[in-house]
Order: sequence, then C-alpha cells, then structure tokens
Amino acid sequence: MFFENKKIFKTILKTEKMKEQTNILNYIPVDELTGSISVPIYQTSTFVQEAPGIHKGFDYARSNNPTRKVLEDLVAKLENGTNGYAFSSGLAAIDAVVKLLKSGDEIIAVDDIYGGAFRLFTHIYEKFGISVNYVDATDAQNIADAITPKTALIWIESPTNPTLKISDIRAIAKIAKAHGVLLCVDNTFASPVAQKPIDFGADLIVHSATKYISGHSDLIAGLVITATQELGDKIKFIQNASGAILGPFDSWLVIRGIETLSLRIKQHAENAQKIAEYLITEKLIKNVYYPGLKTHRNHEIAKSQQKYFGGVVTFDLLVDDKELASQIVSNTKLFKLAESLGGVKSLCCLPCEMTHKSIPQEKRYAAGVTDSLIRLSVGLEDADDLIDDLKQAIQTAVFKTNVLEEAVLEN
Ligand SMILES: Cc1ncc(COP(=O)(O)O)c(C=O)c1O
Repeated sequence: MFFENKKIFKTILKTEKMKEQTNILNYIPVDELTGSISVPIYQTSTFVQEAPGIHKGFDYARSNNPTRKVLEDLVAKLENGTNGYAFSSGLAAIDAVVKLLKSGDEIIAVDDIYGGAFRLFTHIYEKFGISVNYVDATDAQNIADAITPKTALIWIESPTNPTLKISDIRAIAKIAKAHGVLLCVDNTFASPVAQKPIDFGADLIVHSATKYISGHSDLIAGLVITATQELGDKIKFIQNASGAILGPFDSWLVIRGIETLSLRIKQHAENAQKIAEYLITEKLIKNVYYPGLKTHRNHEIAKSQQKYFGGVVTFDLLVDDKELASQIVSNTKLFKLAESLGGVKSLCCLPCEMTHKSIPQEKRYAAGVTDSLIRLSVGLEDADDLIDDLKQAIQTAVFKTNVLEEAVLEN
C-alpha cells in the first residue's frame, strides 16, 4: 500500500513537467456530459433557465458560450495569463484593448506596426481624443523618452510585421511598470509556443488568431489575454458591451488548430531558417530579415525571449523596384500570392501594395517597408521545394524585367 501511494505521488510530479505539446492536448477538456473527446459546438443564442436568474453559468451567448469558454480558458493557460477572451477578429481584439483608455490618453506604439492597427489608432481613435506616438521600440530607451504624464498604454509587436524587428519585452515592461503604464504585446508573429510576454512583465497580449494560432487560413479570429483578473474583468466587460465575440464554430476551429500548434510552430521555424539562409546567398537580394539569422540586428534579444524564431521571412531587393518585386511574388507556384500568414500553406505578399497600403509612403519607408520588400509566410511544405520555387520565381522575374541583371552587372 505504502509503495503504491509512492508511485502515484511520483506520477503526479512528472505530469507537472509535461512538454508544451502534451500540455496543450491535456488542457482541452473532455465533455463532461457525454465524454465527447472533441469539444462540442454549442450553436445556440440562449440557454434555458430553471427559474429567473438560475442557470448553469450561461444565459445569453454574447456574454458567454461553452465552446468559446473552452478556447478562452485554453489560451489563458497557453500564455500564462489569468483570463482569455475570443473576438471576431484580431482587430476587434486590438479595439477591445484600446477601449480600456479614455479621451486625452496617449499611446506609445512601435513604428513598424501592423497596418490595420495603425489605421484603427489614427482614423478611429484619434477622433476620440486618443493620440499615438510611434517610436522605434528596438531601443527601449526610445519608449522611456516618449512617456508623458498622459501615456496610458505602450503597444509593441515583437517580431514586428513585416520587417521582423525585435523589442526587448523585459526592458519595456520594466519601463511600463515604473511609470504605471499598461504594456500590451501583439504576439501574433511569435505565438505562445515561441514567446510568452506575460512571463516578461506584459499586462496584456493580443493575437490575430487568424494566423498561427488557428493555423489553416480558414477563419478570422482575435484573442486578448490578461495578466491579472482585474484587467480580465475589464476586457470581459468590453467584450460583452461591444459585442465583437467569436462564434461557436470558429471557436471550435481555433481549438482544433491549437491542438497542433506546438508541432506546427517548430516546423514553420525550421523551414523559415533554411529559406532565410538560402536568401542571404541570393545576390539579387539586398537585405534578409529573419530573427533566427545571426546577422539579424536583434538576434541576441530574440534568442533571450523566443524559443523559436517564427515562420515569416522578409527580404528586399538590390534595386528598389516595385515592378520587379511584383513579378517575383506573381511567379511563385508553391507560395500563393495572398495577404495573411501563419497557415500550413506558404504565402507571399508585397506589403506596399497589400497589407501596408494604408500607411503613408514616408512612414512606411521610415519603418523599412520599401516598395521592393517581399514578405514570405513559410508553410509546412518541404523546405527544399520552397527554395526551388523562390529560385525559379526570381529567375523568371529577372528574365522578364532585365532590371536586376543590369544592377548586378554594375556592382
Ligand atoms: C500582427 C498583426 N496583428 C493583428 C492583425 C489583425 O488581425 P485580423 O486580420 O485577424 O483582424 C494582423 C493581421 O494581419 C497582424 O498581422
């Protein structure tokens, strides 16, 4: 009897050290009512009550839905947060965080911000008296210097979209705490498998779950995760009051995507590293941006806060020629020309004409998003096949335009 108990005790200790992929699968509950191993989709708008106000914790599906709740609890655990909330898009999640502020407040945001967040801050929230100061967050001192008594929120992405700049989350969190300012990290590009900003002192995390978290380019979704119950209650209030919730079927799809998140992120990063290493050998390319390259200017910081370097690789051309870049992204066969990223199938895009079109040209150039910058979302195809695809796309573009041949000859 004594020995049996000892065995059980050991088993419990071991489960505490489980690997992330095991944890993810273990966090997803088996349905208590039926034993269903797949989370049931509660496709309902309302819940029958025993007596007025007496119910099983669910009254109206905007306020709460059991399928969405499984997703929300799961992502809170994945990010080491207290609470998680699922929204109808990444932008709706960003919007919910900004709604924590009031007129007169200021935001300090990373200059290389996702174009949609820039549009939301500038064209919606500036009208309501919230101003935004964009700074190069790769140097935490720039953030410290930009803080004023009105600063209420620091907004960073790390890695950024699309030039993959890295900010030191620990250093920025210290600055935020010292000034009593909230720090929100858009963790879309890293995913919780690669980076957990709450562990470094962030107060809030947002995700476009459209990307790696769901992982199959088949839905639009957003998440907010909070570091404290108090912030969680505020986001919950905003989610219910504004109503941009994620529906039950999409919540279920996101849960299903998360089941393979850890495996996918590992493979995305392995493929992306090989592709980045090929691209630096390509003489027609000027810069390759990938945090996993030792030549990346923030490689050491990336290494200190990321377990994997992600699946996005960006590069620009020796000649800043939009037509040539446009030819390259049109010539790829495996890399499909489309906005978005983080899916199992590889995508490529020309940010200046697509994802970052809403950012004024000088602002775009200041952040390194030139007309010839190409963003790759490296999927789960074989890396060698993807490299062959890029080689043929570049060669065909050069042949069609002649531009780079001349430039290379000059060099
Ligand atoms: C870093 C980042 N944050 C947020 C968003 C917005 O997410 P969604 O398209 O799901 O609204 C995107 C979309 O591309 C993004 O790249």
